[in-house]
Amino acid sequence: MDNRPIGIFDSGSGGLTVLDACRALLPKENYIYVSDARAGGWGSLCEEEIAKRVNDCVHALLSCDCKAVVAACNTATATRIAALRHDCSLPFIGLEPAVRPAVRAFPHGKVVVLCTPATARQAKFHDLLAQCGGNVTVSPQPTLAQKIERNLHALGALREEAQNIVAVERPDALVLGCTHYVFMRAWFEQILGADRVFDGNGGAARRLQSVLTQSDMLSASRKTGGVTFDSV
Ligand code: DGL
Repeated sequence: MDNRPIGIFDSGSGGLTVLDACRALLPKENYIYVSDARAGGWGSLCEEEIAKRVNDCVHALLSCDCKAVVAACNTATATRIAALRHDCSLPFIGLEPAVRPAVRAFPHGKVVVLCTPATARQAKFHDLLAQCGGNVTVSPQPTLAQKIERNLHALGALREEAQNIVAVERPDALVLGCTHYVFMRAWFEQILGADRVFDGNGGAARRLQSVLTQSDMLSASRKTGGVTFDSV
């Protein structure tokens, strides 16, 4: 048993969708959520700058004595998770675009992966695509995460954005390969149907649960845990 908090980070608010999934599965845990207060997202940055910003978030979490860290960001996972696991001894849980379940459900259909430009160019991401097979198209979105960040209190403004993406890509199944895009999930579901929209949040939460269970690191608390927010 381990009552220390779980750290979770993202460039901004996208990771809140992952936090939701983790809290639904592990409600008795305490969480510390760290985001990057600097302007602009991570998905259009170079690898060096992403590394610097990810490291800043991780250092903030390590200084809070977290027992595990969730990289609630596909961009951070694709670019940095191997280095973080190499450099730090605590467990790191990453976010993976849900290409595998999408291809499994639509083996002959067109599976479109929306992700940031930084995720789209990582070897880790291309390895995943190679493992999954199927008919997969990658659609990098240079500005979508920032549009979502700016419209968090008016998500209705993004309904047209969802319609445009579907009209251009014409997917049989859509993978939301950036945690920000999960805020638009309801719009995509309205257009395509819930069974055609996939994200990696549930998978990450289940992975966190399994890692903590296997290492006997679940919280012993009987009460619902809390969330602390911070930024770097
Ligand atoms: N939410 C992040 C992801 O999952 C990063 C988005 C951004 O900052 O551009 O990729």
